[in-house]
Formats: sequence, structure tokens, C-alpha cells
Amino acid sequence: MNHPWSIGGMGRSVLVVGGGGREHALAIGLVESPSVSSVHVAPGNAGTSQIATNHDISATDVEAQVKLAKSLDVDLVVVGPEAPLVAGLSDELRKIGIPSFGPHAAGAMLEGSKDFAKQVMLDLGIPTASVQHLTIDSDLDEAVDRWGAPWVVKRDVLAGGKGVVVTEDRGEAIDFIQTSINSDGMVLLEEFLSGEEASMLVMMDESGFVALPCSQDHKRVGEGDVGLNTGGMGAYAPAPVVTPEVHARAISEIVEPMHAYLSSQEIPYRGCLYVGLMIDSEGSPSVVEYNVRFGDPETQVTVPLISSDLFDLLLAVAQGNLSESMPSFSDAHALTVVLSAEGYPGPPVKGRLITGNVSADWIRSPDGKCTIHHAGTSIVDGVLISTGGRVLAATGISSDSLEHARELAYQRLSDVQLEGSFFRRDIGHKVLKK
Ligand code: AMP
Ligand code: GLY
Repeated sequence: MNHPWSIGGMGRSVLVVGGGGREHALAIGLVESPSVSSVHVAPGNAGTSQIATNHDISATDVEAQVKLAKSLDVDLVVVGPEAPLVAGLSDELRKIGIPSFGPHAAGAMLEGSKDFAKQVMLDLGIPTASVQHLTIDSDLDEAVDRWGAPWVVKRDVLAGGKGVVVTEDRGEAIDFIQTSINSDGMVLLEEFLSGEEASMLVMMDESGFVALPCSQDHKRVGEGDVGLNTGGMGAYAPAPVVTPEVHARAISEIVEPMHAYLSSQEIPYRGCLYVGLMIDSEGSPSVVEYNVRFGDPETQVTVPLISSDLFDLLLAVAQGNLSESMPSFSDAHALTVVLSAEGYPGPPVKGRLITGNVSADWIRSPDGKCTIHHAGTSIVDGVLISTGGRVLAATGISSDSLEHARELAYQRLSDVQLEGSFFRRDIGHKVLKK
């Protein structure tokens, strides 16, 4: 199928697994690659349907995804979300000789089990918060009094960003601990780390690693970083909180030991290692979490800063040749603002009409400085409707300044209408003036 964006590349074909803003950003980067002539996305969204071919297959249906990759005879599969990685999608693809960007199931346990990830960090001496394991036999009062408020409680399950509660309210902490023990048999209570968060996305295989420009997400639903945790309400890159000194320490204290460990395993890690950093007031980085995939919405502000060929980079990692194909970056700034549906991060209202200057064929402004990244969108009977909690994001890209990127993103978002929707007006507030 020919799309308006097809630029007749050198014949390589790719399947992107997933259907969020992250996958739309990856699909855009791949469509723009001179090496690529066809991009497929499964399941995709309204945005990806405009630039690539969507296939209505769930990201977590490993068998059907493998069948699709085989029937399309793709040169590369790029797995967006964590669940199919934990379920072994990359393992199955490699068995039949299809390169897959994303770790095998055992590597994906770094995100699949926070308990496992913590144990690996402690064994390697990687800086991270101390933890207590709580079960039905634990004395909960003693446990919560050990470190005091605020309390950080983490379920050891894949919960799509909803398995963590950070609270100053002792009763809420104890309630969440008890509910989690009842459903999962155990729960983790972590020491609270103070400081500023940043996301370091590291391309990694057994031949080497390279950190992409660092970004900062906005996890809380409300302006001023208050309210419930979400998947992410907006992001920008590069993030100045990651100074060259902090960067160097994160690489030597966190990434290098992890790379050495992962490369020594029977099956090496090939994919993106997302390092969630907490940087304290002295500039010391520690790990809040590892994810085994690109971040969302971090990818929307990171992919536009990669100036070399995205396909070459992802294929090199999938084949274990990263050291021979290191990427280069532009010195532009990018900022993205997520438009969320009414109810998010609780159950969102779905099925509403999205109007404004956002018909599904409007992806990128003619000057290339503004992109609409679709997430929870679909085209039904020719009209664009919302289908998820994070509906879409407006992303500004500026070679001048982060202020300019912000201006572009908010201007673009003001053109979009969706009943009951909302967005944070303070994305970038830690580094930008009002
Ligand atoms: P996680 O899913 O582990 O990334 O946790 C979600 C969010 O909770 C993080 O992005 C942080 O904002 C917060 N958080 C998690 N662990 C800690 C911690 N130990 N100290 C402070 N905040 C934390
Ligand atoms: N934006 C946070 C994440 O992707 O986990």
C-alpha cells in the first residue's frame, strides 16, 4: 500500500508492535528512513494508519504477531510495549530468524518483576532505594514506621504504571499494602528518594550501548506535579537536569555494570533499556525503575532528535551490531503535551468525536516543526474518535530553544477539541519560566 509519506526506500520492511503514541513516533521515524519502503503496525491507531499499514492484532497476542511478521516477511520487528516482551515475543521471532528489537523474556524481567530488578541492582551495587518485602506475616505498623512518610508501595506485577502508590497518607499506604498482599501474596515498600527524575533511554546489545538524549517525563496527572500517577502527561528533551557530570556518573555507576551483567547472560539483551533516574540535590543519580522498552511519551521527544537512520540503529541492535552503527543526534529541542480523555488515569470515557485541525491525515506541519502523535484514536465510519486514556499528543520541535518547542506544541494542541479532555499546561515547568 502506498501512503503519502512513502518515499520509496531501499526495500526494507518493518513491523512495529503496539498502538500508542510511542509506536506512532517510531513508525514516523521508520517511514522517514531512506532504507525503509514499508512499515506495518499492529494494532496501530488512526495516526499510524495514515503513514503505514495497520493490522488489527493485539500487541500481546504473541502467536498472531509472529504469524504476521512471518507472512509479511519483514526485515525487522520493533516491539513497543513491555507485555509482549515479557511474554516472549522476541524469543519466538528470533527462533524463526526474524530480528527483533526488544529483549527476550528473561531480559524483560527487569521490568516484569520489580523484585527481580531490585535484586540485580543490589547484587551489582547499583544505587537504588532500599526495600522491604511485605507478606501476610509482616508487622505492617513496624514496616511503615521504619522510614516514615512519604511511603512508596510497589506491587510486583505488570500494572501499566498503576501498580505504584506514593503517598503521605499512612492509612492509604497501609490500605494499598494490604490489598496488594491479598491479591499478589507480597508487596514491596521502598525508601522514598527525593530529587528530580529523568529518563535515560539506552540502546543496548552485547557489542555496546549508547544513551539517547535524556528526557524528563511528567508522571502526575495535575499541574505542579500533584495527583495520581499516570503513564506520562508530557515530556521534553534534552533535559538539562542531566548535566554532563550526572550523565557521566549514570553511565559509569548504573549503565556500565548493567551492560556487563546483561552481556554475560546466555542470551544477550538487545533493545532499549529505559533507566528511570532520580537525581538528588548533590547530583548523585540512582535508579527508580528499569523498563525494557522505549518510554511513552519520552519516545515522542527522543526519536525526532536522532539525526541518523532510525532503521539502521534498531536493526543493528536487534542483530547485536550496535558498535558498528552508532547513531548521531541533532541539537534541537522537543516538547510534547499529552491530551487525555475524561476520567484518566481512572477508566477513561471512550468513543467521543475528536475535531479541530486534527483530521487523521494531519500528522506533521509542512515545516516539520510540529507533529500530532496519535495514541488512543481510531477512525470509525470516516470520523476520528477517542479510544483510550491518553488520546494524542502535540509535539513541537525547535532548533532554537525549548521555549519555542513548547510554544509550538501548545499552539498546535489549542486546535484540537475533544469533550471532557484535559492536558497539563505546565509541561517543562522545571526548566522553563511561565
Ligand atoms: P515506577 O513504576 O517504579 O517507576 O514508579 C512510578 C513513579 O513513582 C516514579 O516515576 C516516581 O515518580 C515514583 N517513585 C517510584 N519509586 C520511588 C522512590 N523510591 N522514591 C520516590 N519516588 C518514587
Ligand atoms: N513515561 C513512562 C514510561 O514510559 O514508563
